[in-house]
Amino acid sequence: MAHRWLITGANGMVGTDLRDELARRGEDVVAVTKTDLDVTDAGAVAEIVRREKPTIIVNCAAYTKVDDAEKNEALANAINGSAVEHLAHAANDIDALLIHISTDFVFDGTKRTPYDIHDATAPLSAYGRSKLIGEQAATLARKHLIVRTAWLFGVNGPNFIEAIRNQVRKGNTNLRVVNDQRGRPTYTPHLANALIRLGMQDATGIAHYADEPECTWFDFAKAIVGDAANVEPVTSDQFPRPATRPAYSVLSTERYERLTGVRPESWEEGLREYLSLRA
Ligand SMILES: NC(=O)c1ccc[n+]([C@@H]2O[C@H](COP(=O)([O-])OP(=O)(O)OC[C@H]3O[C@@H](n4cnc5c(N)ncnc54)[C@H](OP(=O)(O)O)[C@@H]3O)[C@@H](O)[C@H]2O)c1
Repeated sequence: MAHRWLITGANGMVGTDLRDELARRGEDVVAVTKTDLDVTDAGAVAEIVRREKPTIIVNCAAYTKVDDAEKNEALANAINGSAVEHLAHAANDIDALLIHISTDFVFDGTKRTPYDIHDATAPLSAYGRSKLIGEQAATLARKHLIVRTAWLFGVNGPNFIEAIRNQVRKGNTNLRVVNDQRGRPTYTPHLANALIRLGMQDATGIAHYADEPECTWFDFAKAIVGDAANVEPVTSDQFPRPATRPAYSVLSTERYERLTGVRPESWEEGLREYLSLRA
C-alpha cells in the first residue's frame, strides 16, 4: 500500500533527515514544523490530520533539553506527553498509524545487559518521565508504534560531536569525557531509514533502534577527535549535571532486527559521513 506520511517537528534533527529521506525515495510526505503546527494545540492537530489524511504520522516534535526539563517539567510534559494524546486521537479519526519516537532515558540504567522492549521503565529525570507519559499517550492510538532510540547525532542539530569539536576548536586538546555511561550512538539518517522500514511494514507495539556497536561517551569522543586531542576517561560524579542520566542504556534491537530482517547500521560509518558533511 502506498503511504502518505505526516511528519511533525520537521525542522528538528530527526525530522529533517526523515523528511529528506522520504522525499529522496519519492514518498508522499507532508512535513510540518513547529511554526506550521504546535502539537500542544489539540484543535490544530485534529484539523491538520483531517485535512492531510496521512496513513502514517511520525511524531518528531519534542522538548529535548534534558537538563532544562528539570526546571520546566510542566512544559516538557505538555510537549512530550499531552501532545502525543492529541496526535493519538487524531490518528484514530482517520485510522492512521502513529509512530512516536521515544528514548533510552525511560530506563534507570541499572541493568548490565541490553534493555529489551519488555523491560520495566523507571525514568531518572523529568525529561525521561515526560517521554514515558508520551509513550503511554501513544498507546491510545489503535495503531501505534513506539520507537525508542538513543545518543542521536545528525548534521541538523546540536549534539555531542559538536560539543566535543567546539572544545578542540577553542584550543582545548586535553578533553575529559565520562567513561561510566554505556549506550549506542545513532546517526539520525540511519534512524530515518529504520523508521521508514518499520512504517512500510505497518509495525506496531514497541521497537528499539540504535546503531552498532555499544560504547561509552569516552570511546565515542576518541573516535570523534582522532589524533587531534587527548581524551581522558572520567566518571559522571566529576561532571554533575541537573538531570541524572542512566549509567547503562544499551538498547536491544532484537525486535527491530526480527521485524525488518536487517541489522542496525554502524555509528562509525555514520560518524565518517557526518564529518564529511559538516565542516
Ligand atoms: N537527541 C537525542 O539524543 C535523542 C535520543 C533519544 C530519543 N530522542 C527523541 O528523538 C526525537 C527527535 O529528537 P531530535 O533530536 O530531533 O530533537 P530536536 O532537534 O530538538 O527536534 C525537536 C523538534 O520539535 C520541535 N518542537 C518543539 N516543541 C514543539 C511543539 N510544541 N510543536 C511542534 N514542534 C515542536 C522543535 O522546534 P524548536 O527547536 O523550534 O523548539 C524541534 O524542531 C524526540 O522525540 C526525542 O525525544 C532524541
